Amino acid sequence: MKSAQGRKMLEFRRNLPAYKEKDGLLTAISQNQVVIISGETGCGKTTQIPQFILEAEVNSGRGALCNIICTQPRRISAMSVSERVASERGEILGDSVGYKVRLEGMKGKDTRLLFCTTGILLRRLLVDRNLKGVTHVIVDEIHERGMNEDFLLIVLKDLLPRRSELRLILMSATLDAELFSSYFGGAPIIRIPGFTFPVRTLFLENILETTGYRLTPYNQIDDYGQEKMWKMSKQAPRKRKSQIASVVEEALGAADLKDYSPWTRESLLCWNPDCIGFNLIEYLLCHICESEKPGAVLVFMTGWDDISSLKEKLQSHPILGDPNRVLLLACHSSMASSEQRLIFDEPADGVRKIVLATNIAETSITINDIVFVLDCGKAKETSYDALNNTPCLLPSWISKVSAQQRRGRAGRVQPGECYHLYPKCVYDAFSEYQLPEILRTPLQSLCLQIKSLKLGSISEFLSRALQSPELLAVQNAIEYLKTIGSLDENENLTVLGRYLSMLPMEPKLGKMLVLGAVLNCLDPILTVVAGLSVRDPFLTPMDKKDLADAAKAQFSRDYSDHLAIVRAYEGWKDAEVDFAGYEYCWKNFLSAQSMKAIDALRRDFFSLLRDTGLVDGNTATSNQWSRDEHLIRAVICYGLYPGVSSVVHSEKSFSLKTMEDGQVLLYSNSVNAQDSQIPYPWLVFNEKIKVKSVFLRDSTAVSDSMLLLFGGSFSRGDTDGHIKMLGGFLEFFMNAAIANMYASIKRELDELIQMK
Ligand code: CDP
Ligand code: MG
Repeated sequence: MKSAQGRKMLEFRRNLPAYKEKDGLLTAISQNQVVIISGETGCGKTTQIPQFILEAEVNSGRGALCNIICTQPRRISAMSVSERVASERGEILGDSVGYKVRLEGMKGKDTRLLFCTTGILLRRLLVDRNLKGVTHVIVDEIHERGMNEDFLLIVLKDLLPRRSELRLILMSATLDAELFSSYFGGAPIIRIPGFTFPVRTLFLENILETTGYRLTPYNQIDDYGQEKMWKMSKQAPRKRKSQIASVVEEALGAADLKDYSPWTRESLLCWNPDCIGFNLIEYLLCHICESEKPGAVLVFMTGWDDISSLKEKLQSHPILGDPNRVLLLACHSSMASSEQRLIFDEPADGVRKIVLATNIAETSITINDIVFVLDCGKAKETSYDALNNTPCLLPSWISKVSAQQRRGRAGRVQPGECYHLYPKCVYDAFSEYQLPEILRTPLQSLCLQIKSLKLGSISEFLSRALQSPELLAVQNAIEYLKTIGSLDENENLTVLGRYLSMLPMEPKLGKMLVLGAVLNCLDPILTVVAGLSVRDPFLTPMDKKDLADAAKAQFSRDYSDHLAIVRAYEGWKDAEVDFAGYEYCWKNFLSAQSMKAIDALRRDFFSLLRDTGLVDGNTATSNQWSRDEHLIRAVICYGLYPGVSSVVHSEKSFSLKTMEDGQVLLYSNSVNAQDSQIPYPWLVFNEKIKVKSVFLRDSTAVSDSMLLLFGGSFSRGDTDGHIKMLGGFLEFFMNAAIANMYASIKRELDELIQMK
């Protein structure tokens, strides 16, 4: 490290707060089996602490023996951090520092420090229960309380007594450190003091004040008691109205919220395109670009859907869409790795970087040059209603801790500014921390993992979690896995279940891929599965709804939302051959971003299937796969069962019923909501979501015979044995077919063992 750049890097490292704690940290780690470290985002936990350990081991002559694994909740951080650490050490990636994420990796025989996703470490535990040879496990970002991390902690807690020399280090930005400490028998907590520049904080009322509008809270007594509301009022026009004033005014006008209308907390922040949320963001971005000091902008959005709609909107803006002035980037966990790297690059002189991000940029990714933060206050969170066995994926308010994290991002390199796009009193009502994922999402995949790791009874195992999920939620998951044929009556994995546990995706998606491959219609099924994982590609601009509906109708003749996506994607793919993909999307009101995302995911899923031996590499692009519509429908039915509703026909229309909920409704954007009749007796659906009524999202109509043959066995009493027998027959056939593929699965296991 003699080069000028090397020296600069060393200097940078030495100035990080974590550096100052180095000796104390290393002593604590050598004296305790478990250590908990907390410190502000950017203080150097992720990049420095694993290096400290590595250096200490090398200095004490144990370098060749040490084997440090540092887990990250997301692939994007595992990759970017390992790259950073290798360059800090003046090495190339794959030398002493490497990474491994699903489908990608860079590591060599000398790799001593491996960054990997939590999922990869869990998969390794599948074949190597004692983590033989591993000297240190660092679990990063535990404050996020992701499902995988909570799961890993139970497994590691069991492992520690068996591996007394193994060291476990838990790291987090902000946390309830005591909770973790007491879970690990009073493990010591080390806090790294942090430093950030002051951040000027504006809440919605402060932003609006500069515009000549005032937002005043008042209490309204209604039938439900007292509710806090806000009133917009216009002040006397100021002498010099700032530029932002007129644009916000326009935004308010466009949102029809302008005059004295009382706003509830909800109406203040309804994040639909074309309403105040997007307009306000657009105008603030414009204001920053035109009149604020240099510095990158980070916009925290709710989810991928919002990011891509906003990005599309901004791209057509005269200033924000001008690549000579603005470098507009998105940052979310499902983007391609080439795109991920761009967010760390410095833009050209005079160009302002704007990154639209999900909560991924809150703690796990540090973009260096951020000076301005816009925070919409929401994140997409899966929650789970165990009583109704219904998952809900709804934008919900973030916690206070998250809001503070978001704000903190603006003050890392110089004094910054944070615009919270909600009133202060909404912030005051945020809960302190977010509920852990294990308590708010369905547990099916987790249960499969527990079984494949041979960890015994699912409910007993989960009762030992940091915070255990409700018993009812656990029972529902087990019941579901039995119904779809992944667990047998005694809660043991079936062959199908074992295979599904190796596919890092929801069991239902895995099932579709497996049957799609077996029944030779994998190509369209890849599109269906990828389509279920991205945002709705059909766009409906408010002002062109009729045209958009007409465009969608061309794809919707099959009474299936899934087949509509297949047709749209295939049309786009054909157009891409002539470089006309974008035009095709424009003409057909499709999101080009979604099409590209589907394309990328299809490749990912295909590689996964190839790696587990289900298909061979030569079939990737061939046209050998069937596109028979009935076949595809049957495979969809196989995957989505038991998500079934019956179609109750009446003279003029139809209604839908499910066993658990009675009457249910379709989302209005479903192709099946457009017709007054559906010439099929059943609809299988991907998701039901409870708002006030229960709504079905993404459905496909199927026939009696499809449901009989492909629906699996009903475990509920009120259907007759006939159905059970037929469904069971298919399961038998599937299990036998998959058993034949085991030889090739073994290849992957061998590779994982080599990771040691
Ligand atoms: O983990 P923690 O949030 O404590 O910080 P870190 O990720 O270790 O980052 C330490 C410092 O390294 C940050 O201040 C970033 O400025 C810098 N860094 C970077 O420049 N590029 C990266 N890819 C990662 C970190
Ligand atoms: Mg970190």
